[in-house]
Amino acid sequence: MGKIIVTRKVPDKFIEQLEAIDTVELWDDAYTPMPRDKFLKALSEATACFITLSEQIDEEALNAAPNLKIIANMAVGFDNIDVQLAHDHNIVVTNTPDVLTETTAELGVSLTLSVARRIVEAERYVQEGKWQSWSPYLLAGKDLYRAKVGIFGMGDIGKAVARRLKGFEANIMYHNRSRHSDAEEELGALYVSFDTLLKNSDFIICTAPLTEETKDKFDKQAFEKMKKEAIFINIGRGAVVDEEALIHALNEGQIWACGLDVLREEPINMANPLLKMKNAVIVPHIGSASIVTRDRMIQLCVDNIKLVLAGHEPLTPVRG
Ligand code: GLV
Repeated sequence: MGKIIVTRKVPDKFIEQLEAIDTVELWDDAYTPMPRDKFLKALSEATACFITLSEQIDEEALNAAPNLKIIANMAVGFDNIDVQLAHDHNIVVTNTPDVLTETTAELGVSLTLSVARRIVEAERYVQEGKWQSWSPYLLAGKDLYRAKVGIFGMGDIGKAVARRLKGFEANIMYHNRSRHSDAEEELGALYVSFDTLLKNSDFIICTAPLTEETKDKFDKQAFEKMKKEAIFINIGRGAVVDEEALIHALNEGQIWACGLDVLREEPINMANPLLKMKNAVIVPHIGSASIVTRDRMIQLCVDNIKLVLAGHEPLTPVRG
């Protein structure tokens, strides 16, 4: 017998399934992460842990977990985990792909439209009592219709975004470390170099995970190459963007606006200059946050834990 750690409060219906197999140590708070010292202590007796992106699984955590068999990450991304080291410790790592793809793509398109049509700014305008008359260019924005859209990162989420953009008759180009003939054939997406994507896109939508290759990919030079009218959207990971370079680009009018679901520092530091910019829309990492999808992600973590503790292969292992 060991212990199953769950680092955030999730509905009882999920906890009950885990309690049927072992003792559960639940951090009974939905909004605050489990303190690191408590987490490390709990790991000393754990056979399984259900974590969120708030937990870092590094050498210290792995050394604290002599009996751990599975780390179930409630996210598709797993840059919070040293996967190689976990595998060296014979620990299975799982994530939650597929179940969140469509929901995350919907957020990507919502954010793109919100920035393009200045929805947040317009809502504030009304709330602040500024709506005194109609005016020809009042809060005029950009069309997504037939725009040139560059998708950086053509994985499942990138493709799901591209599928939706077809409805806007957008001209889609993409850059990815490998080519995807399905996206090219089914979605008419054109594979281009990173430089071409930067120079030719009216909208750039980043859906890329954080890896050695993508870290700081959108740097000063990248923003300088973009169109002055470009809109930059990030639903991948914050550290793919050099935030200072982005702030500079917005301040200098090198690009038109941005929409971010992910930031380098999460939760955002309230002193972050992006918060004062009218042409930056920031949402708190809610890409996969629909009720149904969050239920599915939690259930997938629970299923993976059940399988691994019973000696089976998990449904969605992260391969090293
Ligand atoms: C969210 O960012 C995820 O990786 O699922």
